[in-house]
This record gives sequence, structure tokens and C-alpha cells, in this order.
Amino acid sequence: MTIHSTVLITGASSGIGATYAERFAKRGHNLVLVARDKARLETLATRLRQEHAVNIEVLQADLTKVGDVETVEARLREDSKIGTLINNAGVAQSGGFLEQTGEDISQLIALNTTALARLAGAIAPRLAAAGDGAIINIGSVVGLAPEFGMSVYGATKAFVLFLSQGLNLELSSKGVYVQAVLPAATRTEIWERAGIDINSLAEVMEVGELVDAALIGFDRRELVTIPPLFNESRWETLQAARQTLLGDIRQTHAAERYQTAS
Ligand SMILES: NC(=O)c1ccc[n+]([C@@H]2O[C@H](COP(=O)([O-])OP(=O)(O)OC[C@H]3O[C@@H](n4cnc5c(N)ncnc54)[C@H](OP(=O)(O)O)[C@@H]3O)[C@@H](O)[C@H]2O)c1
Repeated sequence: MTIHSTVLITGASSGIGATYAERFAKRGHNLVLVARDKARLETLATRLRQEHAVNIEVLQADLTKVGDVETVEARLREDSKIGTLINNAGVAQSGGFLEQTGEDISQLIALNTTALARLAGAIAPRLAAAGDGAIINIGSVVGLAPEFGMSVYGATKAFVLFLSQGLNLELSSKGVYVQAVLPAATRTEIWERAGIDINSLAEVMEVGELVDAALIGFDRRELVTIPPLFNESRWETLQAARQTLLGDIRQTHAAERYQTAS
């Protein structure tokens, strides 16, 4: 990534996004901070400008609204100083599938997947043409675990991982680095916003530790960074098993167990 290029961070008003903002300001990057709560973004921006002498712009947007997504897309397409996109804004799910309304499902998918993919789509052609830049997508270990009972949220996070792996294959040869970060439970407001008492969780990572670990993965140019995964070979084994499965998919005929006896 170009030294000191501008970093655009979605969901920068709290939690993981606000912590990324602090860390990149400390590294000397100018920032564009995106979220709905303008007052909170301004407070963070004022503090970081004072502490780190960087330029910080606040861009208020509700990324569930198409018009606001288009505004951020335009910025990503047109501002050649922006060299890194951190696709972080996200909401979790409150309640199980049977309690979710159609509107809940739409909002979750609009923010966690549609906005994320559109913003990546807005910046990627410019970065590919420049042969430089990075896209960081915040997924979740929930995207690996239907067992966690957060089906729609987990599905959006599985999308984030898949999209990141696909974009890496399409863009890395063009000089664009894509990173998927998969946190587990981290101490932020996301839990309260979803109506879950964080104290009911057995284990929680502090947000600073999570982002610092994710940045070590970023500096190493890892494709997938899972800070809470202790044995890294488990991930490699999973990917190898997936490749083996793909190698056994043949297209001309159905597998024997699905063939009718004739
Ligand atoms: N904390 C965890 O345990 C955990 C675990 C795995 C993955 N993650 C992922 O980490 C990411 C950041 O979450 P967090 O834990 O830092 O939670 P958070 O503190 O609740 O932050 C969420 C951010 O997204 C923004 N946001 C929410 N709705 C938005 C909308 N409609 N339009 C634009 N921005 C919106 C919020 O700002 P405004 O309200 O100002 O808009 C806030 O800045 C999410 O993608 C989440 O899924 C979190």
C-alpha cells in the first residue's frame, strides 16, 4: 500500500472501526470516517487530528440506504488519494430466525453484504488500475459456524469471507491486497445494540487487542486473519479439505448414489 495513502473506514464511530481509525492515524494516514452518527465521528476526528496531525474527514452515511451507499461509492471511485478501504460497518442479529422480521433480515443483509460488496466494487477498478491498494473486509468466525444459531448474521459473514477469497484471486495479480478479518466475540457496542448482555459471554477479546492482531495480519499480507484461532493449521486443513472436495466434483453425470436403477 502506498505510504500514507488515505484510509476510508466504514463504521468508524465506535468499536472495531474507531480502533482502526486510531491505529491508522497513529501510522500517519489521513482518514475518511463513515457512519451514521456524525457527532461521534466529529469527536473522534477532532481528537485524532490533535493527537496525530493527520487530515480527517467525516462522511455521514447510512449504508442501508442506496443513496448514501452511492455517495460513498462515488468518493471511492473519484478520490485517488484513498488507497485503503476498511469495510467494517456491520450489525449483529437479535433473536433467532423465527423472531426476525423481513425488515430485520433486509437491513442486516443490506449493511453487512450489499454495502460491503458495492463499496469494494467502487474502489477495486481504481486500485487495480493503479496496481496498488488494499481492501480489508471484517467478517466473523460466526460465518464459519451455523452451530452458533445466528443464521442470517452468520450467512452475511460467510459471504464476506467468500467474497474476500474470490476478490483475492481476481485482484492480487493486479497489485491489490484483500484481507478478511474474522474476529470472535470482541468487547464493542455490537452486543448491546443486538440486545445481548456482553457479560453473559464466557470469553471476550478487548477491541484493541483484536485490531492490533488484525494489523499484524495486514502487515504480513495475510488473506485471512483469525486473531482468536490458536492453531493456524486448523484453517489450512479446512482449506485443503475444501480443495479435495472440489477435486471430486464432476459434471457429466450425477454421483452413483443418485442414479436411478435401470
Ligand atoms: N464485536 C464483535 O464481537 C464482533 C465479532 C465479529 C465480527 N464483528 C464485526 O465487526 C464489525 C464492527 O462491529 P463492532 O463490533 O465494532 O460493533 P459496533 O461498535 O456496534 O460498531 C458498528 C459500527 O457500524 C456502524 N453502523 C451501524 N449501522 C450502520 C449503518 N446503517 N450505516 C453505516 N454505519 C453503520 C456504527 O455506527 P453508527 O451507529 O454511527 O452508524 C458503528 O460505527 C461488524 O462488521 C461486526 O459484524 C464484531
